Amino acid sequence: SGGLATGCDAGTDPDTDPTDGPRGDLRFPTGFRWGAATSAYQVEGATKEDGRGESVWDTFSRTPGRTRNGDTGDIAADHYHRYADDLDLMRDLGLRSYRFSISWPRIQPDGTGTPNQRGLDFYRRLVDGLHERGISPMATLFHWDLPQTLQDAGGWENRDTAYRFAEYAELLYRGLGDRIPVWLTINEPKTVVQNGYLHGHHAPGFQDPQAAYLVAHHLQLGHGLAVEALRATGSDARIGPALNLHPCYPADDSAEADRASRLYDGYENRLYLDSILKGSYPADVLADLGPDSRMARGIRDGDLKIISAPIDLLAVQYYTPYYVTATGDTVTRWPTSQADWQQIYPDGMYDILTRVTRDYGPVPLTVTENGLPQADTLSADGTVDDSGRISFLRDHMAAAHRAVTDGVPLESYHVWSLLDNFEWAEGYDQRWGLIYVDYPTQRRVPKRSALWYREVIRANGL
Ligand code: NOJ
Repeated sequence: SGGLATGCDAGTDPDTDPTDGPRGDLRFPTGFRWGAATSAYQVEGATKEDGRGESVWDTFSRTPGRTRNGDTGDIAADHYHRYADDLDLMRDLGLRSYRFSISWPRIQPDGTGTPNQRGLDFYRRLVDGLHERGISPMATLFHWDLPQTLQDAGGWENRDTAYRFAEYAELLYRGLGDRIPVWLTINEPKTVVQNGYLHGHHAPGFQDPQAAYLVAHHLQLGHGLAVEALRATGSDARIGPALNLHPCYPADDSAEADRASRLYDGYENRLYLDSILKGSYPADVLADLGPDSRMARGIRDGDLKIISAPIDLLAVQYYTPYYVTATGDTVTRWPTSQADWQQIYPDGMYDILTRVTRDYGPVPLTVTENGLPQADTLSADGTVDDSGRISFLRDHMAAAHRAVTDGVPLESYHVWSLLDNFEWAEGYDQRWGLIYVDYPTQRRVPKRSALWYREVIRANGL
């Protein structure tokens, strides 16, 4: 693999070059943890090895027309085989925290029953390797790769899936719990709801609003049950949800746009935040869904108590704001990235972090994802110049620093992603990594942003 030795020769005016190294103006609190994130299906590959079962993403990505170029995660970044080299790259980068996810179908190929030891062993080797290198593991229990057998039994529309999830979580607490200080329950439940069940762009690929919000409830029930299961083991590990939050702004000054953006915020943010942190669903969203919705009928006595089981930290993922018109549509106000849904707006990071603290109290926060896709290319001299990503990260980190200065209890920040990987329906065209993956050879090449990030970590700031 490439290592981090390759030079970074900015060669331009240090006062104006956005990719210039840290100047020391914005220092983060002592002990702040800098990290990077990945997820199992996006990086591991080896989908048929060591007893792994099938997940909904195997099914979905192998279905013609579902992903760009028909890409699948069968090989991905081959991390399952190359994890030791990847650990060395993380160490060279100076990471203090690594957020990864555990593949449910590696642990329970059919979604239930005794754990597959070879699956557990892979994560044990990974986690031991992190500790050996002084990197703190942060494990996501569910990053969208539901065992296909559970999908066949109704998936997250079936309330039972929430209980299966808590059982799976408990297997992990018992199997790996002594080595994992922070657990994240469900990654971006909203994306499963919206992309999986409203728009159908993600597995399982449905377009059914009634199902979607019932799924939202069951995902959150699963979250709460997994929190309770951790407490029941007596573990002192910390746990929380990983929510993608979107600051919502009215697109104009009208009262209608203001009203529409509030409801939009309900669906984007409060549906998940209020339930977990206040123990109630937002009244405006419930009213909008109506009393006869499948979600409303699926909420049982005691569910919100479970969903609001006390958490230790809240993981925030920020990518883009929304501007909402009077008719409840969204418009684009800022330049977009290679992902057409992403408007580049660093102040949104400040707004969402301060808002969470203001509205929900001083729960410790971690940023578990923030990043930018580009069509990065490997140049003839063997380097990858992704200065656009450096500017993006620098501006978002500066916004996070401003939030910290204003009292937000932010304890860590993770770039999405450590490596280029399988970007779901977008396949491999969008590259999100700090480290370039040359897919034909699987060679790793740290991008210029990786070299820059190493200096940020070293300086603990910008
Ligand atoms: C959110 C998801 O958690 C991750 O899997 C995805 O690759 C990034 N955002 C970028 O879209």
